[in-house]
Amino acid sequence: MKQFTHVALLVCILMSGIASAQTSEKNNDRKWWKEAVVYQIYPRSFKDSNGDGIGDLRGIISKLDYIKSLGVDVVWLNPIYSSPNDDNGYDVSDYRNIMSDFGTMADFDALLKGMHERGIKLVMDLVVNHSSDEHEWFVQSRSSRTSPYRNYYHWWDAEKGKPAPRYSLFDINHDAWKYDSLTNAYYLHYFSRKQPDLNWENPKLRQEIYDIMKFWAEKGIDGFRLDAFQFAAKDTNFPVFPAGYEKNFIQYYAMGEHLHDYLREMNAEVFSKYDVMSVAEGAGKSFQDAHDLVDADRKELNMAYAFDAVDIAKPEGYSLLHFKEVFSRWDSAFAQNGWLSIFLANHDQARMVSRFGNDTPAFRDLSSKMLATFIMTMRGTPYFYYGDELAMTNAGFERIEDYKDMPTLNEYQYQKNTGGDLKKFMEQVKFGCRDNGRTPFQWDATHNAGFSSGTPWIKINTNYKIINAQAQEKNPASTLNYFRSLVNVRKKNLTLVYGKYELLDKNNPSVYAYTREDESGKLLILLNFSKENALADIGMDVSKKTVLLSNYKERSRPGKRKNTVVLKPYEAKIYVLK
Ligand code: NOJ
Repeated sequence: MKQFTHVALLVCILMSGIASAQTSEKNNDRKWWKEAVVYQIYPRSFKDSNGDGIGDLRGIISKLDYIKSLGVDVVWLNPIYSSPNDDNGYDVSDYRNIMSDFGTMADFDALLKGMHERGIKLVMDLVVNHSSDEHEWFVQSRSSRTSPYRNYYHWWDAEKGKPAPRYSLFDINHDAWKYDSLTNAYYLHYFSRKQPDLNWENPKLRQEIYDIMKFWAEKGIDGFRLDAFQFAAKDTNFPVFPAGYEKNFIQYYAMGEHLHDYLREMNAEVFSKYDVMSVAEGAGKSFQDAHDLVDADRKELNMAYAFDAVDIAKPEGYSLLHFKEVFSRWDSAFAQNGWLSIFLANHDQARMVSRFGNDTPAFRDLSSKMLATFIMTMRGTPYFYYGDELAMTNAGFERIEDYKDMPTLNEYQYQKNTGGDLKKFMEQVKFGCRDNGRTPFQWDATHNAGFSSGTPWIKINTNYKIINAQAQEKNPASTLNYFRSLVNVRKKNLTLVYGKYELLDKNNPSVYAYTREDESGKLLILLNFSKENALADIGMDVSKKTVLLSNYKERSRPGKRKNTVVLKPYEAKIYVLK
Protein backbone atom coordinates (compact mmCIF):
# COMPACT_ATOMS: atom_id res chain seq x y z
CA MET A 1 0.00 0.00 0.00
CA LYS A 2 1.33 3.37 -0.92
CA GLN A 3 1.63 5.34 2.25
CA PHE A 4 -0.63 8.33 2.56
CA THR A 5 1.29 11.49 3.02
CA HIS A 6 -0.36 14.84 3.60
CA VAL A 7 0.83 17.90 1.74
CA ALA A 8 3.14 19.09 4.46
CA LEU A 9 4.99 15.81 4.28
CA LEU A 10 5.07 15.89 0.53
CA VAL A 11 6.84 19.18 0.55
CA CYS A 12 9.23 18.18 3.29
CA ILE A 13 12.85 18.84 2.40
CA LEU A 14 15.88 16.88 3.48
CA MET A 15 18.53 19.19 4.68
CA SER A 16 22.22 18.63 4.75
CA GLY A 17 25.47 20.55 4.72
CA ILE A 18 26.12 24.06 5.90
CA ALA A 19 26.51 26.88 3.47
CA SER A 20 29.63 28.93 3.47
CA ALA A 21 28.40 31.67 1.15
CA GLN A 22 29.85 35.08 1.96
CA THR A 23 27.56 38.02 1.49
CA SER A 24 28.04 41.62 2.38
CA GLU A 25 24.56 42.00 3.85
CA LYS A 26 24.47 40.33 7.25
CA ASN A 27 21.41 38.96 8.89
CA ASN A 28 21.45 41.61 11.59
CA ASP A 29 21.00 44.38 9.04
CA ARG A 30 17.61 45.83 9.82
CA LYS A 31 14.71 45.23 7.42
CA TRP A 32 10.99 45.67 8.00
CA TRP A 33 10.25 42.10 6.92
CA LYS A 34 12.66 40.74 9.50
CA GLU A 35 11.00 42.69 12.30
CA ALA A 36 7.45 41.92 11.17
CA VAL A 37 5.07 39.40 12.69
CA VAL A 38 3.10 37.69 9.91
CA TYR A 39 -0.49 36.61 10.42
CA GLN A 40 -1.78 34.14 7.85
CA ILE A 41 -5.44 34.27 6.88
CA TYR A 42 -7.23 31.49 5.06
CA PRO A 43 -9.87 33.73 3.45
CA ARG A 44 -12.42 30.96 2.89
CA SER A 45 -12.64 30.45 6.64
CA PHE A 46 -12.06 33.81 8.27
CA LYS A 47 -15.34 35.71 8.09
CA ASP A 48 -18.31 35.47 5.74
CA SER A 49 -20.02 38.80 5.06
CA ASN A 50 -22.84 37.72 2.71
CA GLY A 51 -24.20 34.53 4.22
CA ASP A 52 -23.08 32.13 1.48
CA GLY A 53 -21.05 30.12 3.99
CA ILE A 54 -17.71 31.14 2.47
CA GLY A 55 -15.38 33.65 4.04
CA ASP A 56 -14.73 36.68 1.84
CA LEU A 57 -12.84 39.96 1.50
CA ARG A 58 -15.63 42.07 2.99
CA GLY A 59 -15.54 39.68 5.92
CA ILE A 60 -11.85 40.34 6.42
CA ILE A 61 -12.46 44.08 6.09
CA SER A 62 -15.03 43.86 8.89
CA LYS A 63 -12.35 42.31 11.11
CA LEU A 64 -9.43 44.60 10.36
CA ASP A 65 -9.62 46.19 13.79
CA TYR A 66 -9.34 42.76 15.36
CA ILE A 67 -6.29 42.00 13.21
CA LYS A 68 -4.78 45.34 14.15
CA SER A 69 -5.45 44.61 17.81
CA LEU A 70 -3.20 41.57 17.58
CA GLY A 71 -0.24 43.82 16.87
CA VAL A 72 0.78 41.92 13.76
CA ASP A 73 2.35 43.83 10.88
CA VAL A 74 1.76 41.65 7.84
CA VAL A 75 -1.16 39.59 6.62
CA TRP A 76 -0.43 36.72 4.25
CA LEU A 77 -3.60 35.85 2.34
CA ASN A 78 -3.99 32.48 0.70
CA PRO A 79 -4.93 32.82 -3.01
CA ILE A 80 -7.90 35.05 -3.74
CA TYR A 81 -7.72 35.04 -7.57
CA SER A 82 -10.46 33.67 -9.85
CA SER A 83 -10.45 29.92 -9.56
CA PRO A 84 -12.72 26.94 -10.12
CA ASN A 85 -11.55 25.86 -6.65
CA ASP A 86 -10.31 22.40 -7.33
CA ASP A 87 -7.66 23.14 -4.70
CA ASN A 88 -9.24 26.07 -2.87
CA GLY A 89 -7.71 28.77 -5.03
CA TYR A 90 -4.36 27.11 -5.71
CA ASP A 91 -5.69 26.58 -9.24
CA VAL A 92 -5.88 30.06 -10.71
CA SER A 93 -7.98 30.75 -13.80
CA ASP A 94 -7.38 34.51 -13.91
CA TYR A 95 -4.48 36.07 -12.05
CA ARG A 96 -5.83 39.60 -12.45
CA ASN A 97 -9.25 39.00 -10.98
CA ILE A 98 -10.80 38.15 -7.65
CA MET A 99 -12.54 34.83 -7.02
CA SER A 100 -16.30 35.50 -7.13
CA ASP A 101 -16.78 33.64 -3.82
CA PHE A 102 -14.48 36.20 -2.22
CA GLY A 103 -15.81 39.40 -3.78
CA THR A 104 -14.66 41.92 -6.36
CA MET A 105 -11.60 43.95 -7.21
CA ALA A 106 -13.28 46.93 -5.53
CA ASP A 107 -13.45 44.83 -2.35
CA PHE A 108 -9.78 44.01 -2.74
CA ASP A 109 -8.87 47.68 -3.14
CA ALA A 110 -10.88 48.51 -0.04
CA LEU A 111 -9.17 45.73 1.88
CA LEU A 112 -5.70 46.89 0.92
CA LYS A 113 -6.59 50.49 1.78
CA GLY A 114 -8.03 49.43 5.12
CA MET A 115 -4.90 47.47 5.93
CA HIS A 116 -2.54 50.24 4.96
CA GLU A 117 -4.54 52.77 6.96
CA ARG A 118 -3.91 50.58 9.97
CA GLY A 119 -0.22 50.07 9.19
CA ILE A 120 -0.71 46.44 8.14
CA LYS A 121 1.04 45.11 5.05
CA LEU A 122 -0.36 42.55 2.65
CA VAL A 123 1.47 39.56 1.20
CA MET A 124 -0.22 37.74 -1.68
CA ASP A 125 0.14 34.07 -2.51
CA LEU A 126 1.57 33.71 -6.01
CA VAL A 127 0.69 30.34 -7.52
CA VAL A 128 2.78 30.08 -10.66
CA ASN A 129 4.25 26.61 -10.72
CA HIS A 130 0.89 25.73 -12.23
CA SER A 131 -2.38 27.37 -13.23
CA SER A 132 -5.91 26.05 -13.45
CA ASP A 133 -6.81 23.98 -16.50
CA GLU A 134 -9.57 26.57 -16.86
CA HIS A 135 -7.09 29.40 -17.33
CA GLU A 136 -7.36 30.87 -20.83
CA TRP A 137 -3.70 29.98 -21.47
CA PHE A 138 -4.44 26.31 -20.92
CA VAL A 139 -7.69 26.41 -22.85
CA GLN A 140 -5.69 27.79 -25.80
CA SER A 141 -2.73 25.53 -25.18
CA ARG A 142 -4.73 22.34 -25.36
CA SER A 143 -6.75 23.48 -28.38
CA SER A 144 -4.02 22.67 -30.92
CA ARG A 145 -0.39 21.72 -31.17
CA THR A 146 0.30 24.92 -33.05
CA SER A 147 -1.37 27.23 -30.56
CA PRO A 148 0.90 30.14 -29.54
CA TYR A 149 0.14 29.03 -25.98
CA ARG A 150 1.21 25.44 -26.53
CA ASN A 151 4.58 26.07 -24.88
CA TYR A 152 3.06 27.69 -21.84
CA TYR A 153 2.65 24.15 -20.45
CA HIS A 154 4.50 20.85 -20.69
CA TRP A 155 3.14 18.60 -23.42
CA TRP A 156 4.36 15.20 -24.57
CA ASP A 157 3.12 14.03 -27.97
CA ALA A 158 1.66 10.56 -27.69
CA GLU A 159 3.29 9.23 -30.87
CA LYS A 160 6.59 9.38 -28.93
CA GLY A 161 5.13 6.74 -26.60
CA LYS A 162 4.32 7.24 -22.94
CA PRO A 163 6.45 9.84 -21.18
CA ALA A 164 8.73 8.79 -18.32
CA PRO A 165 6.62 8.43 -15.17
CA ARG A 166 6.16 11.41 -12.94
CA TYR A 167 4.54 11.23 -9.52
CA SER A 168 1.58 13.51 -8.89
CA LEU A 169 0.98 14.64 -5.35
CA PHE A 170 -2.76 15.04 -5.73
CA ASP A 171 -3.84 12.85 -8.65
CA ILE A 172 -6.22 10.04 -7.88
CA ASN A 173 -3.74 7.58 -9.45
CA HIS A 174 -0.63 9.59 -8.57
CA ASP A 175 0.11 9.88 -12.27
CA ALA A 176 1.37 13.38 -13.15
CA TRP A 177 0.77 12.92 -16.88
CA LYS A 178 -2.77 13.26 -18.15
CA TYR A 179 -3.59 12.10 -21.65
CA ASP A 180 -5.65 14.58 -23.67
CA SER A 181 -7.26 13.12 -26.78
CA LEU A 182 -7.90 16.55 -28.28
CA THR A 183 -4.32 16.76 -29.52
CA ASN A 184 -3.22 13.21 -28.76
CA ALA A 185 -0.73 14.34 -26.12
CA TYR A 186 -0.05 14.18 -22.39
CA TYR A 187 0.25 17.24 -20.17
CA LEU A 188 2.18 17.44 -16.92
CA HIS A 189 0.56 18.20 -13.57
CA TYR A 190 2.60 17.68 -10.41
CA PHE A 191 -0.53 18.51 -8.42
CA SER A 192 -4.09 17.69 -9.59
CA ARG A 193 -5.24 17.21 -13.18
CA LYS A 194 -6.82 20.60 -12.91
CA GLN A 195 -3.45 22.16 -12.04
CA PRO A 196 -1.28 21.83 -15.17
CA ASP A 197 2.35 22.87 -14.66
CA LEU A 198 3.44 26.06 -16.36
CA ASN A 199 6.49 25.93 -18.58
CA TRP A 200 9.01 28.28 -17.01
CA GLU A 201 11.50 27.43 -19.72
CA ASN A 202 9.40 29.61 -22.02
CA PRO A 203 10.53 33.28 -21.74
CA LYS A 204 7.13 34.49 -22.91
CA LEU A 205 5.44 32.72 -20.03
CA ARG A 206 7.94 34.17 -17.60
CA GLN A 207 7.24 37.67 -18.88
CA GLU A 208 3.50 37.10 -18.44
CA ILE A 209 4.09 36.18 -14.81
CA TYR A 210 6.28 39.22 -14.13
CA ASP A 211 3.57 41.41 -15.66
CA ILE A 212 1.02 39.84 -13.32
CA MET A 213 3.31 40.46 -10.37
CA LYS A 214 3.76 44.08 -11.42
CA PHE A 215 0.00 44.46 -11.71
CA TRP A 216 -0.33 43.59 -8.01
CA ALA A 217 2.78 45.46 -6.95
CA GLU A 218 1.43 48.57 -8.67
CA LYS A 219 -1.73 48.18 -6.62
CA GLY A 220 0.52 48.56 -3.61
CA ILE A 221 0.75 45.09 -2.14
CA ASP A 222 3.75 44.43 0.06
CA GLY A 223 4.99 40.99 -0.82
CA PHE A 224 4.67 37.64 -2.49
CA ARG A 225 4.71 34.10 -1.18
CA LEU A 226 5.79 31.84 -4.04
CA ASP A 227 3.74 28.69 -3.96
CA ALA A 228 5.56 25.44 -4.80
CA PHE A 229 8.08 27.48 -6.73
CA GLN A 230 11.01 25.18 -6.10
CA PHE A 231 9.35 22.80 -8.57
CA ALA A 232 9.02 25.39 -11.36
CA ALA A 233 12.25 24.63 -13.27
CA LYS A 234 12.20 21.26 -15.01
CA ASP A 235 14.33 19.16 -17.27
CA THR A 236 12.02 19.27 -20.25
CA ASN A 237 13.63 16.19 -21.77
CA PHE A 238 11.81 14.37 -19.00
CA PRO A 239 14.48 11.75 -18.34
CA VAL A 240 13.57 8.46 -16.67
CA PHE A 241 14.03 8.67 -12.91
CA PRO A 242 15.32 5.63 -10.97
CA ALA A 243 12.74 3.15 -9.66
CA GLY A 244 11.25 4.28 -6.37
CA TYR A 245 12.09 7.95 -7.01
CA GLU A 246 8.52 8.85 -5.99
CA LYS A 247 9.34 8.02 -2.36
CA ASN A 248 11.76 10.88 -2.44
CA PHE A 249 10.45 12.86 -5.35
CA ILE A 250 11.55 16.22 -3.98
CA GLN A 251 15.14 15.24 -4.65
CA TYR A 252 14.16 14.97 -8.30
CA TYR A 253 11.63 17.75 -8.61
CA ALA A 254 13.07 20.57 -6.56
CA MET A 255 15.63 23.15 -7.60
CA GLY A 256 15.79 22.37 -11.30
CA GLU A 257 18.78 23.66 -13.20
CA HIS A 258 17.46 27.11 -14.11
CA LEU A 259 15.50 27.93 -10.98
CA HIS A 260 18.01 30.47 -9.72
CA ASP A 261 18.14 32.14 -13.14
CA TYR A 262 14.37 32.58 -13.04
CA LEU A 263 14.47 33.99 -9.54
CA ARG A 264 17.20 36.44 -10.41
CA GLU A 265 15.23 37.51 -13.44
CA MET A 266 12.09 37.89 -11.30
CA ASN A 267 14.06 39.90 -8.79
CA ALA A 268 15.42 42.23 -11.48
CA GLU A 269 12.00 42.59 -13.13
CA VAL A 270 9.83 42.89 -10.04
CA PHE A 271 11.27 42.62 -6.52
CA SER A 272 14.02 45.17 -7.06
CA LYS A 273 11.51 47.75 -8.27
CA TYR A 274 9.12 47.68 -5.31
CA ASP A 275 9.39 47.55 -1.53
CA VAL A 276 8.06 44.04 -1.36
CA MET A 277 9.09 41.02 0.67
CA SER A 278 9.43 37.62 -0.97
CA VAL A 279 9.25 34.19 0.53
CA ALA A 280 9.30 30.87 -1.28
CA GLU A 281 7.45 27.83 -0.10
CA GLY A 282 10.12 25.22 0.56
CA ALA A 283 13.82 25.84 0.87
CA GLY A 284 15.45 23.38 -1.49
CA LYS A 285 17.20 20.13 -0.72
CA SER A 286 20.09 21.38 1.36
CA PHE A 287 21.21 24.37 3.40
CA GLN A 288 23.25 25.38 0.40
CA ASP A 289 20.06 25.50 -1.68
CA ALA A 290 18.35 27.52 1.01
CA HIS A 291 21.22 30.00 1.12
CA ASP A 292 21.29 30.23 -2.64
CA LEU A 293 17.63 31.20 -2.53
CA VAL A 294 17.89 33.88 0.13
CA ASP A 295 21.41 35.22 0.65
CA ALA A 296 20.94 38.91 -0.02
CA ASP A 297 23.78 39.44 -2.45
CA ARG A 298 22.39 36.82 -4.80
CA LYS A 299 19.32 38.99 -5.34
CA GLU A 300 16.73 36.27 -5.40
CA LEU A 301 14.35 36.01 -2.41
CA ASN A 302 14.22 37.43 1.11
CA MET A 303 13.48 34.47 3.29
CA ALA A 304 13.37 30.72 3.39
CA TYR A 305 10.34 28.76 4.57
CA ALA A 306 11.45 25.23 5.36
CA PHE A 307 9.39 22.25 6.39
CA ASP A 308 11.57 19.81 8.23
CA ALA A 309 10.56 21.19 11.62
CA VAL A 310 6.80 21.18 11.12
CA ASP A 311 6.89 17.67 9.78
CA ILE A 312 8.26 16.29 13.05
CA ALA A 313 4.83 16.00 14.69
CA LYS A 314 3.31 12.53 14.38
CA PRO A 315 0.09 11.00 15.79
CA GLU A 316 2.20 9.00 18.24
CA GLY A 317 3.97 12.15 19.46
CA TYR A 318 7.40 13.58 18.71
CA SER A 319 10.76 13.97 20.30
CA LEU A 320 11.60 17.38 21.71
CA LEU A 321 15.29 16.52 21.29
CA HIS A 322 14.67 16.13 17.57
CA PHE A 323 12.67 19.36 17.50
CA LYS A 324 15.45 21.27 19.25
CA GLU A 325 18.07 19.76 17.01
CA VAL A 326 16.26 20.83 13.83
CA PHE A 327 15.62 24.40 14.96
CA SER A 328 19.15 24.77 16.32
CA ARG A 329 20.67 23.40 13.11
CA TRP A 330 18.66 25.84 11.03
CA ASP A 331 19.58 28.71 13.28
CA SER A 332 23.28 28.02 13.13
CA ALA A 333 23.21 27.54 9.36
CA PHE A 334 21.70 31.02 9.10
CA ALA A 335 23.68 32.66 11.87
CA GLN A 336 25.53 34.99 9.50
CA ASN A 337 23.65 35.22 6.23
CA GLY A 338 20.18 34.58 4.95
CA TRP A 339 16.90 34.80 6.81
CA LEU A 340 14.35 32.25 7.99
CA SER A 341 10.64 32.04 8.64
CA ILE A 342 9.59 30.52 11.98
CA PHE A 343 6.23 28.76 12.09
CA LEU A 344 4.51 25.67 13.42
CA ALA A 345 1.35 25.78 11.35
CA ASN A 346 -0.18 26.91 8.10
CA HIS A 347 -3.07 25.96 5.81
CA ASP A 348 -1.33 22.70 4.85
CA GLN A 349 -1.04 21.52 8.44
CA ALA A 350 -3.40 20.44 11.13
CA ARG A 351 -3.67 22.76 14.15
CA MET A 352 -0.51 23.73 16.01
CA VAL A 353 -1.82 22.97 19.50
CA SER A 354 -3.11 19.55 18.46
CA ARG A 355 0.15 18.57 16.82
CA PHE A 356 2.84 20.17 18.97
CA GLY A 357 1.04 20.96 22.20
CA ASN A 358 -1.75 19.33 24.10
CA ASP A 359 -5.32 20.11 23.08
CA THR A 360 -7.02 18.59 26.14
CA PRO A 361 -9.00 21.16 28.17
CA ALA A 362 -6.49 21.11 31.02
CA PHE A 363 -3.48 22.00 28.89
CA ARG A 364 -4.79 23.55 25.70
CA ASP A 365 -4.30 27.18 26.67
CA LEU A 366 -1.05 26.62 28.52
CA SER A 367 0.57 24.62 25.76
CA SER A 368 -0.68 26.95 23.09
CA LYS A 369 0.81 29.94 24.90
CA MET A 370 4.05 28.03 25.33
CA LEU A 371 4.25 27.27 21.58
CA ALA A 372 3.48 30.87 20.72
CA THR A 373 6.29 31.94 23.06
CA PHE A 374 8.62 29.67 21.14
CA ILE A 375 7.66 31.09 17.74
CA MET A 376 7.91 34.65 18.96
CA THR A 377 11.32 34.30 20.60
CA MET A 378 13.29 32.59 17.85
CA ARG A 379 15.44 34.34 15.28
CA GLY A 380 13.61 34.62 11.96
CA THR A 381 10.28 36.14 10.95
CA PRO A 382 7.42 34.60 12.97
CA TYR A 383 4.38 33.39 11.03
CA PHE A 384 1.18 32.84 12.94
CA TYR A 385 -1.81 31.02 11.47
CA TYR A 386 -5.32 32.45 12.02
CA GLY A 387 -7.06 30.90 15.01
CA ASP A 388 -3.86 29.75 16.67
CA GLU A 389 -4.07 32.90 18.78
CA LEU A 390 -7.22 31.34 20.31
CA ALA A 391 -5.71 27.85 20.59
CA MET A 392 -8.15 26.54 17.98
CA THR A 393 -7.81 22.77 17.80
CA ASN A 394 -8.11 20.01 15.21
CA ALA A 395 -11.69 19.32 14.22
CA GLY A 396 -10.87 15.63 13.81
CA PHE A 397 -13.91 14.78 11.68
CA GLU A 398 -14.78 11.09 11.86
CA ARG A 399 -16.51 10.74 8.50
CA ILE A 400 -14.86 11.15 5.12
CA GLU A 401 -17.97 13.06 3.97
CA ASP A 402 -17.02 15.90 6.30
CA TYR A 403 -13.66 16.45 4.62
CA LYS A 404 -13.39 18.87 1.70
CA ASP A 405 -9.72 18.66 0.89
CA MET A 406 -9.26 17.40 -2.69
CA PRO A 407 -6.02 15.41 -2.19
CA THR A 408 -7.50 13.77 0.91
CA LEU A 409 -10.64 12.76 -0.96
CA ASN A 410 -8.57 11.52 -3.92
CA GLU A 411 -6.30 9.54 -1.66
CA TYR A 412 -9.28 8.01 0.11
CA GLN A 413 -10.56 6.86 -3.27
CA TYR A 414 -7.09 5.60 -4.21
CA GLN A 415 -6.85 3.59 -0.99
CA LYS A 416 -10.31 2.22 -1.57
CA ASN A 417 -9.50 1.24 -5.17
CA THR A 418 -6.23 -0.42 -4.22
CA GLY A 419 -7.51 -2.26 -1.13
CA GLY A 420 -5.74 0.05 1.33
CA ASP A 421 -6.42 0.12 5.06
CA LEU A 422 -9.17 2.74 5.23
CA LYS A 423 -9.38 2.67 9.01
CA LYS A 424 -5.72 3.51 9.32
CA PHE A 425 -6.08 6.11 6.61
CA MET A 426 -8.91 7.82 8.51
CA GLU A 427 -6.84 7.86 11.68
CA GLN A 428 -4.05 9.63 9.83
CA VAL A 429 -6.51 12.08 8.31
CA LYS A 430 -8.04 12.84 11.68
CA PHE A 431 -4.66 13.84 13.02
CA GLY A 432 -2.95 15.34 10.01
CA CYS A 433 -5.43 16.39 7.33
CA ARG A 434 -5.10 20.04 6.47
CA ASP A 435 -8.87 20.51 6.81
CA ASN A 436 -8.22 20.39 10.55
CA GLY A 437 -6.57 23.76 10.18
CA ARG A 438 -9.16 25.16 7.78
CA THR A 439 -12.33 25.19 9.85
CA PRO A 440 -13.93 28.60 10.29
CA PHE A 441 -12.56 31.12 12.72
CA GLN A 442 -14.41 30.97 16.01
CA TRP A 443 -15.56 34.52 16.64
CA ASP A 444 -18.17 33.93 19.33
CA ALA A 445 -20.56 31.42 20.87
CA THR A 446 -23.50 32.26 18.61
CA HIS A 447 -24.76 30.22 15.64
CA ASN A 448 -21.87 29.06 13.41
CA ALA A 449 -19.39 30.65 15.79
CA GLY A 450 -20.26 34.06 14.33
CA PHE A 451 -18.51 33.06 11.10
CA SER A 452 -21.52 32.98 8.80
CA SER A 453 -25.28 33.30 8.82
CA GLY A 454 -25.43 30.62 6.11
CA THR A 455 -24.22 27.04 5.98
CA PRO A 456 -20.43 27.03 6.33
CA TRP A 457 -18.51 25.42 3.45
CA ILE A 458 -16.84 23.15 6.00
CA LYS A 459 -18.10 22.21 9.45
CA ILE A 460 -17.32 24.45 12.38
CA ASN A 461 -15.30 22.87 15.17
CA THR A 462 -17.82 21.75 17.80
CA ASN A 463 -15.80 23.38 20.58
CA TYR A 464 -16.56 26.94 19.42
CA LYS A 465 -18.74 27.71 22.43
CA ILE A 466 -15.68 27.31 24.63
CA ILE A 467 -12.94 28.46 22.27
CA ASN A 468 -13.86 31.76 20.69
CA ALA A 469 -12.51 35.28 20.36
CA GLN A 470 -15.33 37.03 22.17
CA ALA A 471 -14.89 34.95 25.32
CA GLN A 472 -11.15 35.44 25.24
CA GLU A 473 -11.38 39.21 24.75
CA LYS A 474 -13.00 39.43 28.17
CA ASN A 475 -10.40 37.33 29.92
CA PRO A 476 -7.08 39.08 30.59
CA ALA A 477 -5.40 35.69 31.01
CA SER A 478 -6.69 34.25 27.73
CA THR A 479 -4.53 32.79 25.00
CA LEU A 480 -5.58 35.68 22.80
CA ASN A 481 -4.42 38.31 25.26
CA TYR A 482 -1.22 36.42 25.94
CA PHE A 483 -0.56 36.42 22.19
CA ARG A 484 -0.95 40.20 22.13
CA SER A 485 1.51 40.56 25.00
CA LEU A 486 3.96 38.33 23.19
CA VAL A 487 3.80 40.39 20.02
CA ASN A 488 4.41 43.45 22.15
CA VAL A 489 7.42 41.84 23.80
CA ARG A 490 8.82 40.94 20.39
CA LYS A 491 8.32 44.49 19.13
CA LYS A 492 10.00 46.05 22.14
CA ASN A 493 12.97 43.70 22.12
CA LEU A 494 14.84 43.62 18.86
CA THR A 495 17.16 41.18 20.58
CA LEU A 496 14.46 38.62 19.86
CA VAL A 497 14.64 39.45 16.16
CA TYR A 498 18.38 39.76 15.60
CA GLY A 499 20.08 38.43 18.70
CA LYS A 500 22.37 35.41 18.78
CA TYR A 501 20.65 32.18 19.77
CA GLU A 502 22.27 29.78 22.20
CA LEU A 503 20.80 26.46 23.23
CA LEU A 504 21.04 25.49 26.93
CA ASP A 505 20.40 22.14 28.62
CA LYS A 506 20.62 20.51 25.20
CA ASN A 507 19.81 16.94 26.25
CA ASN A 508 16.79 17.79 28.36
CA PRO A 509 13.94 15.80 26.78
CA SER A 510 11.19 18.04 28.22
CA VAL A 511 12.59 21.54 28.33
CA TYR A 512 13.64 23.83 25.52
CA ALA A 513 15.91 26.50 27.01
CA TYR A 514 17.85 29.13 25.11
CA THR A 515 19.19 32.63 25.28
CA ARG A 516 18.96 35.44 22.77
CA GLU A 517 21.63 38.10 23.00
CA ASP A 518 22.87 41.23 21.27
CA GLU A 519 24.52 44.51 22.31
CA SER A 520 21.27 45.77 23.80
CA GLY A 521 20.51 42.85 26.06
CA LYS A 522 20.18 39.17 26.84
CA LEU A 523 17.00 37.19 27.34
CA LEU A 524 16.48 33.67 28.60
CA ILE A 525 13.59 31.60 27.33
CA LEU A 526 12.44 28.51 29.23
CA LEU A 527 9.75 26.28 27.74
CA ASN A 528 8.39 23.09 29.23
CA PHE A 529 7.05 20.96 26.39
CA SER A 530 5.59 18.32 28.74
CA LYS A 531 2.51 17.94 30.89
CA GLU A 532 4.59 17.15 33.98
CA ASN A 533 6.77 19.39 36.10
CA ALA A 534 10.22 19.48 34.53
CA LEU A 535 13.62 20.53 35.79
CA ALA A 536 15.58 22.96 33.65
CA ASP A 537 19.33 22.84 34.24
CA ILE A 538 20.37 26.23 32.95
CA GLY A 539 23.69 26.87 34.63
CA MET A 540 22.59 30.13 36.24
CA ASP A 541 20.53 31.45 39.10
CA VAL A 542 17.46 33.28 37.87
CA SER A 543 15.70 33.67 41.20
CA LYS A 544 16.23 37.43 41.16
CA LYS A 545 15.87 38.03 37.45
CA THR A 546 12.96 39.96 35.98
CA VAL A 547 10.33 37.88 34.24
CA LEU A 548 9.27 39.65 31.06
CA LEU A 549 6.39 37.31 30.27
CA SER A 550 5.05 33.97 31.41
CA ASN A 551 1.96 31.82 31.03
CA TYR A 552 1.97 31.26 34.83
CA LYS A 553 1.53 34.09 37.32
CA GLU A 554 3.88 32.78 39.95
CA ARG A 555 7.67 32.72 39.78
CA SER A 556 9.33 29.37 39.12
CA ARG A 557 10.76 27.67 42.15
CA PRO A 558 14.46 26.75 42.09
CA GLY A 559 15.28 23.04 41.90
CA LYS A 560 17.20 21.23 44.65
CA ARG A 561 20.37 21.37 42.63
CA LYS A 562 22.05 24.74 42.14
CA ASN A 563 21.23 26.63 38.95
CA THR A 564 18.13 24.64 38.18
CA VAL A 565 14.51 25.72 37.90
CA VAL A 566 11.35 23.68 38.23
CA LEU A 567 8.95 24.41 35.39
CA LYS A 568 5.26 23.64 35.67
CA PRO A 569 3.42 21.76 32.89
CA TYR A 570 3.83 23.64 29.60
CA GLU A 571 5.29 26.59 31.44
CA ALA A 572 6.87 29.34 29.35
CA LYS A 573 9.06 32.06 30.83
CA ILE A 574 11.04 34.88 29.31
CA TYR A 575 13.66 36.30 31.71
CA VAL A 576 15.71 39.42 31.31
CA LEU A 577 19.33 38.47 32.01
CA LYS A 578 20.75 41.87 31.12
C1 NOJ B 1 1.31 24.36 -1.74
C2 NOJ B 1 0.14 25.02 -1.09
O1 NOJ B 1 0.53 25.49 0.16
C3 NOJ B 1 -0.96 23.99 -1.04
O2 NOJ B 1 -2.04 24.42 -0.26
C4 NOJ B 1 -1.39 23.70 -2.45
O3 NOJ B 1 -2.33 22.67 -2.43
C5 NOJ B 1 -0.19 23.27 -3.30
N1 NOJ B 1 0.97 24.09 -3.09
C6 NOJ B 1 -0.53 23.36 -4.76
O4 NOJ B 1 -0.61 24.70 -5.14
